[in-house]
Amino acid sequence: MNLSRRGFLVSTAAVLAARPALTQVATPGLILNAGVADVQLLPETYGKTTIWGFDATSPGPEIRVRQGARVQRTLTNNLPQATSTHWHGIRISNAMDGVAGLTQTAVPPGASFEYDFVAPDAGTYWYHAHNRSFEQVARGLYGALIVEEPEPLDVDREEVLIFDDWRIDPETAQIDSEFGASHDTSHGGRLGNYITTNGIYNLALDARRNERLRLRLINASNARIFALRLEGLDGWTVALDGMPLVAPQKVTDTIFLGSAQRVDLIVDVVADVGETAHIAQLDRDETFSQVAFEVRSGGTGTKRGAPVPLPPNPHPVVDLNNARALTLRMEGGAMGGLSSATLGGESKTMREVVDSGRYWAFNGAADGLDGPPLAKLTRGEHVRITIANETAFPHVMHLHGMHFHEISETGRLGPLRDTTLIDRGAEREIAFVANNPGQWLLHCHMLSHAASGMSTRIVVA
Ligand code: C2O
Ligand code: CU
Repeated sequence: MNLSRRGFLVSTAAVLAARPALTQVATPGLILNAGVADVQLLPETYGKTTIWGFDATSPGPEIRVRQGARVQRTLTNNLPQATSTHWHGIRISNAMDGVAGLTQTAVPPGASFEYDFVAPDAGTYWYHAHNRSFEQVARGLYGALIVEEPEPLDVDREEVLIFDDWRIDPETAQIDSEFGASHDTSHGGRLGNYITTNGIYNLALDARRNERLRLRLINASNARIFALRLEGLDGWTVALDGMPLVAPQKVTDTIFLGSAQRVDLIVDVVADVGETAHIAQLDRDETFSQVAFEVRSGGTGTKRGAPVPLPPNPHPVVDLNNARALTLRMEGGAMGGLSSATLGGESKTMREVVDSGRYWAFNGAADGLDGPPLAKLTRGEHVRITIANETAFPHVMHLHGMHFHEISETGRLGPLRDTTLIDRGAEREIAFVANNPGQWLLHCHMLSHAASGMSTRIVVA
């Protein structure tokens, strides 16, 4: 399989430049330092890029623990801006959730904050800044948080693959600093022009024929929905957003990975020795190599049979018949046809709403987190929420603190997730048991959307 290398920017010399080597090293110790760093993000022929990263890299250090273990990190803030850290997908105590302005005050420059929590579920998670996240995540403040199953899986090795798209000015090699630009915010969010895996352009890894890999894919981009295909790899989806599927699902089609979504794959390398297998990315009718696997040797094994399911994480069973039913209408944005919305309880024209920096509304209100919560629930209550995307764009909704089931069209409990990708004009029902007390955000993970009206919260008493 010979996929084109991604054409970045304009200079062929740059496209042909040597690929930077994999240099990411996890920093030991319990400090997680948010700071400014100059890194060689672009190919060597370009200058260095100033990023905001954890421990001077992006992605930041991988945090890896056993299921049930305690995670302790002191966030130190050496940024020129206040920050906080959210542990995405972890069923965490509310005070540790890291949402500036809701579960904690943002940590000012020069100050620190102690995070201390238990990771109850095995799976692929991540951490990222949660103050002005449309800026701070775009600047590089994120990393992988991996919670290992009690028993190792029957695979030869695993790879954590974090995808991002950066918006970079090729002249200066610097990140475009127009965060929250109104065109991005009112359309599909901030999309980048330079796509990386683990901070590396055109990542290539070695592989052996018939090798079995566990791939942990994480989409850390602000808004891009990655459309992925496997080439030269036979694969099964074994977990979504950290949570194991009841049965592994053979990958036969495009995998869509919205912002913040994760998918765990088990793949067998079926490309021949001398060939290259790929995770391919489809972008406007073109196919690029997102990650290349260069098959250098035959290995020893033969191809294995289908993988067994991952062990399930403990989770309460939702009773749909006794669940409180809620509705969340997503409205607004460009071409959304919304003419008015409320702000602070008063009806405003869309122009007035836009003048106050809001482009989107939930159930007719554009207040975002300044408004009342979507629901106040009692602890242990069963809930189902119909989310109707009445906008002209897809959105990826994320609930903090608890995983939910996606409900299938036939009304069955589908996979457990912490995000759900909803196409424009589509509807999705989710259901969960509200067993984690606190104030939990429910927002679009297209981060400029979240900052401009697509945020609400659920209060569990
Ligand atoms: Cu991944 Cu509210 O965040
Ligand atoms: Cu959105």
